[in-house]
Amino acid sequence: MIDNKNDKFLMSFGQMPIANNFIEKENFDNEFFYEMKVGFNDEYSLFKLLEHPKPEQMFNSKYPFLTSSSKYMVEHFKKFYEFILNNYIENENEKIIEIGCNDGSMLNNFSPKHNCLGFEPSTNIAKIAQDKKLNVIANFFSSNYLEAKSYINNTKIIYAANVICHIPDLNQLINDIDKLLSKKGLFIFEEPYLGSMVSKTSYDQIYDEHVYIFSVSSVKKIFNKFGFELINVMPQTTHGGSMRYIVARKGEYQIEKNVDLNEQIEIDQQIISHEGLLNFKNKCNESKAKIIDLLNGFKKKGKLVSGYAATSKSTTILNFCQIRNDLINCIYDTTPDKIGKFSPGVHIPIIDYKEFQKKYPDVVYLFAWNHKNEIFNKEKKFIENGGEWFSHVEL
Ligand code: TYD
Repeated sequence: MIDNKNDKFLMSFGQMPIANNFIEKENFDNEFFYEMKVGFNDEYSLFKLLEHPKPEQMFNSKYPFLTSSSKYMVEHFKKFYEFILNNYIENENEKIIEIGCNDGSMLNNFSPKHNCLGFEPSTNIAKIAQDKKLNVIANFFSSNYLEAKSYINNTKIIYAANVICHIPDLNQLINDIDKLLSKKGLFIFEEPYLGSMVSKTSYDQIYDEHVYIFSVSSVKKIFNKFGFELINVMPQTTHGGSMRYIVARKGEYQIEKNVDLNEQIEIDQQIISHEGLLNFKNKCNESKAKIIDLLNGFKKKGKLVSGYAATSKSTTILNFCQIRNDLINCIYDTTPDKIGKFSPGVHIPIIDYKEFQKKYPDVVYLFAWNHKNEIFNKEKKFIENGGEWFSHVEL
């Protein structure tokens, strides 16, 4: 069992709305806010939200995030699939589970011969995966469903990408994983990485859905409590810097050197103690002051500033810095469910990205800085027309 006895307050980002709750005008008055406080637990080396909305408030029939909105992510998931298939699947009958399979962008890669099961609690998104004929339960991950019965003690791989940090109850999650995995079963997951967030001051990784920002040290400590061990880690470039973790039952596999190596890096970087993270707190406040200055400067010069990509991450920036549509006139995005609505909390209009090319603004805040290459490539003409990109992280 892990507990929150030793959680220690680090900082508050102020009142926050639900990061993905792109909202219609008529709902402005009853928008939900909570105080986004973060803390650090030295016992588990765990960076976490101290308060967060219930998962049901975020992952429901209106969840707007589609993995397939990024070609880069779709390609990344193909490679992740190949990594699992080539290294760990010995025969086609072995059972595979994906937690939080979204629109099926990764599950899709497995052939119908494989025994796959996906879980996706956002029912509108689960339907997209089910329409692709994928075997998906439109609900939160659990070993209790009838459809999951044959997977108990019998699953070779449970994998997840950008999902585990969304699950507040780690005890229940790991107990379910324990029930489902076979003796040689592996839990493979990748998540935005604390080390990358701290080194880039990309504090926009912190929002309601990201209850935890994991590190090698935290994953090792947490899983050890449940009879598992971290056998390998692999840094990833996705989401502005992620880490892939491979977890097995104790003693079943050799532990790769990478685990100790990356743990030592975290110790050296002083990112796995409450004290060490006070520096990150200062950097977040400096970043806020800098971005507000920059935007006010653009306004003074009469420049038209827009945003690009209405990411969940942007909700943290916009609300922490209190940036409203006097500073950013609109945000361009590809997601049909966001277009025509307003950004959570600060209510900046979300416009179809196709409109962007029709009348370029002078400067653009790239909120999806993690998709920089894909977006710069798509929007080459903006620069050719004298446009300028910027962000709170280095582009
Ligand atoms: P992502 O960084 O995955 O968002 P989040 O912070 O929510 O994890 O980016 C996805 C969002 O960016 C989504 O709203 C679609 C938008 N987007 C574009 O508008 N154009 C693009 O070319 C890409 C790659 C994303």
